Amino acid sequence: MQKKLHHKFHTKLISYDQFMEYKLYDKNEGYYSVKNQELWGIDYSTSPIVHSAFGFLIAKYIYAVWISMNSPSTFSLIEIGGGNLNFINNIFDGIKKLSPKFADLLNIMVIDRNFKNNLQRHKNIQLMNSDSFNLKNITGVVISNELFDALPFKRLINKKDKFYEIFVNYCNDFEEQELEIKYNPFSKYPKDIYSIPGKVFTYSPSQKKMIKDIAAGMKYGVILTIDYGYFFNDLKKNKNLMTDARIIKKQNIINNIYSEDLVDISSFVNFNLLIDWFTEFGFDFMFSDKQSKFLQDLDIVNFTKSYLKNAVNMAEALKYIRSLEDLIDDEIFGDYLVLGVSKGLSNFNHNLVLDKLID
Ligand SMILES: C[S@@+](CC[C@H](N)C(=O)[O-])C[C@H]1O[C@@H](n2cnc3c(N)ncnc32)[C@H](O)[C@@H]1O
Repeated sequence: MQKKLHHKFHTKLISYDQFMEYKLYDKNEGYYSVKNQELWGIDYSTSPIVHSAFGFLIAKYIYAVWISMNSPSTFSLIEIGGGNLNFINNIFDGIKKLSPKFADLLNIMVIDRNFKNNLQRHKNIQLMNSDSFNLKNITGVVISNELFDALPFKRLINKKDKFYEIFVNYCNDFEEQELEIKYNPFSKYPKDIYSIPGKVFTYSPSQKKMIKDIAAGMKYGVILTIDYGYFFNDLKKNKNLMTDARIIKKQNIINNIYSEDLVDISSFVNFNLLIDWFTEFGFDFMFSDKQSKFLQDLDIVNFTKSYLKNAVNMAEALKYIRSLEDLIDDEIFGDYLVLGVSKGLSNFNHNLVLDKLID
């Protein structure tokens, strides 16, 4: 890989986000390149892939937003990073069941860097390449699942009151080189957290840019972000929490951060920073919860009961429910967090609206 990197970059010292941009998105060599679509098309598992109920339940949330906004006749649902179409197809099926009228008027757009060619999709669902990302005047919901963790990030470490960025030096082997930086992106948080010895924190200008782009196109509505990550406060309880990169090779976590193979690199998302940026760009914070708690708000328990009641084949039904349980199992999806922010909506509380919805 060094040869390829030499070819790609004019310097031997590159920042981790440049390295990641190449490893994930290089047109020819990248994990997510068109050439490797057979790999990324099946390699990772996410909540929408694990179970269709995930999309059905989120459909309820989106419907609740629409109702709380007095059912406007123009409403968009935009999913960013949903190129595999699992999530959007399940959400749309759920919305059709809840309200054919809402399903009919809904404009749906999926934005990604590239798409698998052989995807089935409903005619209401449009695809947009993120190179031409240009949202304007949107009223509706913007949703993403495991998008922010996939965006390139820098790696920072604090030593004796100074911050260093970890660069990759690929002269002989991949060596890490720390260069002092003059800014502290975590300055408003308690020092004892961001200076935990040896702790590497990710910091992603791409995440900030993504939030800025969403804000520029959003007039009125809700952003729902689901990702794995942490809050700084969690580190007070557990200093060993993961805050760095996560590398997956053929569905297994590996430790080699500079693996020469095709691997999926992602970060544990710092949700404090996400909230700061959403707030900076004009959104109101609404809630953040663990995925398990959020799905309970969406009444996953009754969903399961009514599914069982209507099941024809009990063996199949039990299989369905076993994988559905994974979604709220904190051993499996315990690091997954849901963040809701809004623009122009006062007092939207999904619990209050959902209570009124009939299953
Ligand atoms: C880990 S996958 C998650 C896929 C899907 N959301 C799911 O939950 O199954 C990350 C996705 O984000 C997409 N992505 C990465 N950077 C992006 C960007 N700048 N704009 C839009 N999509 C992006 C990737 O192509 C990929 O489809």
